[in-house]
Amino acid sequence: MKVEVSINYNKMDERKGGKHTMIGQSCKTQEIKPKILYYGTPVILLNTLNEDGTVNISPISSSFALGDHIILGLGLGGKAIENLERHPECVINIPNPDLWENVERLAPFTGKNPVPDYKKEHGFLFQKDKYLTSGLSPIESISVKPSRIQECPLQIEAKVQHIRTPEYSSIFAIVETQALHVHAHEDIILSENYVDPRKWSPLIYNFRHYFSLGKELGKTFRAETL
Ligand SMILES: Cc1cc2nc3c(=O)[nH]c(=O)nc-3n(C[C@H](O)[C@H](O)[C@H](O)COP(=O)(O)O)c2cc1C
Repeated sequence: MKVEVSINYNKMDERKGGKHTMIGQSCKTQEIKPKILYYGTPVILLNTLNEDGTVNISPISSSFALGDHIILGLGLGGKAIENLERHPECVINIPNPDLWENVERLAPFTGKNPVPDYKKEHGFLFQKDKYLTSGLSPIESISVKPSRIQECPLQIEAKVQHIRTPEYSSIFAIVETQALHVHAHEDIILSENYVDPRKWSPLIYNFRHYFSLGKELGKTFRAETL
């Protein structure tokens, strides 16, 4: 079905009496059935503990933060969720755009052995040593067993508070974690307990392509830094 909605920003601007960057543009839409719906969220490298005490690294992009809680979306059948169910601790490492190739080196692998059939069909291979594969380096955590990734500017040690597999879907789990310690590279820290948004940029997973942030547009009324 083709639905066309046209918004005339000229009219809106006249009403508000202000300037609008979209002046003159129309916003016609078409209904689509997107093959991919990853609309641009930060990449995370999720460190979890394998049964033998080694560390698995899983690239993920489904996450959001609410206060000091971070909610993760994990596919069932991967090693990350298996590890978190057995050992409810993790490190949420947040890479910057410079690390996209290290992330992508991990992309075709799973820590699951044997590789589940659906992953095999998509070309996934088993890899135990994700540090070696990614070219990244481990550093010990303070309170959790999985190591942190030294090269990631933000490394968040977290404990799992709750894992939910929605009754309407058997393919993913929603994992609620709570941050215990936040480690930041010194060059992105602003006056002790803030991250400098002008020095830090996440790596964005945008419809399966990697991007960095563009230039700053402004700030919200609740921003606590200049
Ligand atoms: C950039 C990127 C983002 C991804 N986002 C997710 C995600 O949010 N959740 C998820 O379960 N898998 C995600 N994947 C797929 C997993 O990385 C993939 O299933 C991998 O095999 C997981 O490793 P594991 O089985 O060792 O945990 C993503 C992959 C890439 C490259």
